[in-house]
Amino acid sequence: PAHGLVDSFGRRATDLRISLIDKCNLRCTYCMPAEGLPWLKKDQLMTPDEIRRLVRIGVETLGIRELRLTGGEPLVRADLLEIISGLRADHPELPIAMTTNAIGLEKKAQALADAGLSRINVSLDSLHRETFAQLTRRDSLDKVLTGVEAAAQAGLTPLKINAVLMRGINDQEAPELLAWSLEQGYELRFIEQMPLDGEENWKREGTVSAAETRELLSQRFRLVPSQENRDGAPAERFDVYEPHGNDKDDDDKHDAGAHGAGAFLGKVGVIASVTEPFCADCRRTRITAEGRVMSCLFSNEEFDLMHILRDPEATDADVAQRWAEAMWVKPAAHGTDRPGFELESFHRPGRSMSAIGG
Ligand code: GTP
Ligand code: 5AD
Ligand code: SF4
Repeated sequence: PAHGLVDSFGRRATDLRISLIDKCNLRCTYCMPAEGLPWLKKDQLMTPDEIRRLVRIGVETLGIRELRLTGGEPLVRADLLEIISGLRADHPELPIAMTTNAIGLEKKAQALADAGLSRINVSLDSLHRETFAQLTRRDSLDKVLTGVEAAAQAGLTPLKINAVLMRGINDQEAPELLAWSLEQGYELRFIEQMPLDGEENWKREGTVSAAETRELLSQRFRLVPSQENRDGAPAERFDVYEPHGNDKDDDDKHDAGAHGAGAFLGKVGVIASVTEPFCADCRRTRITAEGRVMSCLFSNEEFDLMHILRDPEATDADVAQRWAEAMWVKPAAHGTDRPGFELESFHRPGRSMSAIGG
C-alpha cells in the first residue's frame, strides 16, 4: 500500500471514481436497457460512512488526489448531501466532481455546492425535445436544461457537457450543441460510443468517430489542437475559433476573419475511447455502488471490498491491500480499437455503463 495503486504496466491510479447508486431516472439507449436492470437493494449499497472510509484510505495511504461521484444517477441517492459534506469535512482541499444528468439539480445545486461539491459534468446529447426523448426514452429535456442553469448559477464550474453522438439520431446536431455550449460558457465534450450499452447493440459502424466529429464541427468552426498538457485526461481538447474568412463575402476581404484570424470562441473536447484510446496514460480506479473495485472500465474481474469494510475485524490496511491487489492486475488496454475487433470475441464486463458509472 505504501506504493499506492500501481499496476503491472507501471501506471499509477490517482483519480478515484465512486458509483453511488446503480439506478437512473433516464434510459439512454447506449447505457441501459429500456426496462431498467435489477437494482441493488439499499443494504447492498455502500453507506455514507463506508464511502467516507474508502476515500480516507485512498487519500491518506494510496495516493488518490481527485474524486468523482457517478451513478447510475448520483442525484437519485437521497443521502447525497450527507455523503458530500462528510467527504468535504475529511478533505478540505480534495477536488470532488460529479457526473450527472442534471435532473433535480434545479432544487439541489446550491445545497450541493454549499456541502462542498466542486464541479459537475452533465450528460446531454440533444437540445431538441423529440431527439432527447428518443435517446433517453424520457421526455425530460426541460428539467435537464433548468438543472444545468442552476448548477452554473451555484458555481459548480467549470461545467462540462458530455454528448454521445449516435449516427442518424443526433450526429448532425454536433455544431449546434457546440454553439450552445460556447454561448453558455460550458465545455462540451463529444464521446465515442463504447460497447457497454445494456442491450449489446453496439456496432463499430454505428460509432461516430472522433475524426468524423471534428469533420462535422468544421462545417461551422475552426478547431486548433490545444497546447495545454492533456495530463492523462480522456478528452483531447481543441481551441475553437470562428471559421476562416467567408468566401461568399468577398466584400469583407479586409476583415480580420478573411485572413483566417477568426475570434477565439472557447474550447471543445473529444473523447475517442474507441478509435484513439488513451489507456497507456490511465490514472483511474473505480469502485462500484456495492463496493467492488473495477481496475478498468472494461474489467471482467471485480474485487469486492464490501465484505472487508463490513468485517469488524478488518483494518484499513486490509482494505488498502485488497484495493492495491485489484489494481495490480489492471488490463493494459481494452482493445476495441484493434483492427478486426469483433463484438463476438469481446469479453464484455459483467455490467453495463449504468452500473459502472462511465
Ligand atoms: P473531467 O475531464 O475531469 O471533467 O472528467 P472525465 O471526463 O474523466 O469524467 P466523465 O465522467 O465526464 O467522463 C466522460 C466520458 O469519458 C465518459 O463517457 C466516460 O466513460 C469516459 N471515460 C472516463 N474515464 C474513462 C476511462 O478510463 N476509459 C475510457 N475508455 N473512457 C473513459
Ligand atoms: N459509450 C460512451 N459513453 C457512454 N456514457 C454512457 N454510456 C456510454 C457508452 N456506451 C457516458 C454518458 C455519461 C458518461 C459518464 O458516460 O453520456 O456522460
Ligand atoms: Fe483506463 Fe481501462 Fe479506460 Fe483504458 S479502458 S483508459 S485502461 S479505464
